[in-house]
Amino acid sequence: MIQLQRRLCLLVASVSIASLGIAGCTPQPQTNAQTSQTQTDVQTPLREPDVVYVPTPQEVVDQMLALAKVTKEDVLYDLGSGDGRIPVTAAQRFGTRGFGIDINPERIQEANANAQKAGVTERVRFLNQDLFTTDISQATVVTLYLLPELNVKLRPQLFEQLKPGTRIVSHDFDMGEWKPDRVVQTQEGSTIYLWTIPEEVPANLQ
Ligand SMILES: C[S@@+](CC[C@H](N)C(=O)[O-])C[C@H]1O[C@@H](n2cnc3c(N)ncnc32)[C@H](O)[C@@H]1O
Repeated sequence: MIQLQRRLCLLVASVSIASLGIAGCTPQPQTNAQTSQTQTDVQTPLREPDVVYVPTPQEVVDQMLALAKVTKEDVLYDLGSGDGRIPVTAAQRFGTRGFGIDINPERIQEANANAQKAGVTERVRFLNQDLFTTDISQATVVTLYLLPELNVKLRPQLFEQLKPGTRIVSHDFDMGEWKPDRVVQTQEGSTIYLWTIPEEVPANLQ
């Protein structure tokens, strides 16, 4: 019985990944944007997403922003931004300017609706782009909730484009050989990693 449930879960998840980029077996946030969306609004992702949509719990978002010591002076990029909760929260709490990048236009619609609801549309922008081809050179903080292999794939882009001192915070996944400055375990069972872009790329990561 449990095996069947697991198989059904896998089936629903793979159909969702292929068609919408949404995880069928993970809790989905019920935003106004989602409930008011009609069939005709739904667009196709630019290409198949590298990872399905699973939102970071709000308590973990708060701790990610605290760990990165986000302020009004920062420019935050959330790569794979989902419903936009990380840039929206940073803008609401600290006045941070933020960008959310997501390959799925449905997520961009939700994020824009959430920014509007939060009254932060002047501080945040959501772009329907592939995070691997996005220019992130203006960022002073980058947030991630991807997968370990995607973090490692992203590493050269981070070193190439980001200024020294830029903070990177990742929910649950590390960067392989690049050791974090800090690791925090949350009460919710998440792990948050913090790195800072050094003046020079460490020899073992070149
Ligand atoms: C696990 S969710 C994280 C959402 C959000 N950052 C959060 O923490 O709540 C990953 C998101 O990445 C997006 N995504 C997957 N591959 C992508 C790519 N190559 N470029 C941009 N976004 C991508 C998915 O559509 C999904 O919304």
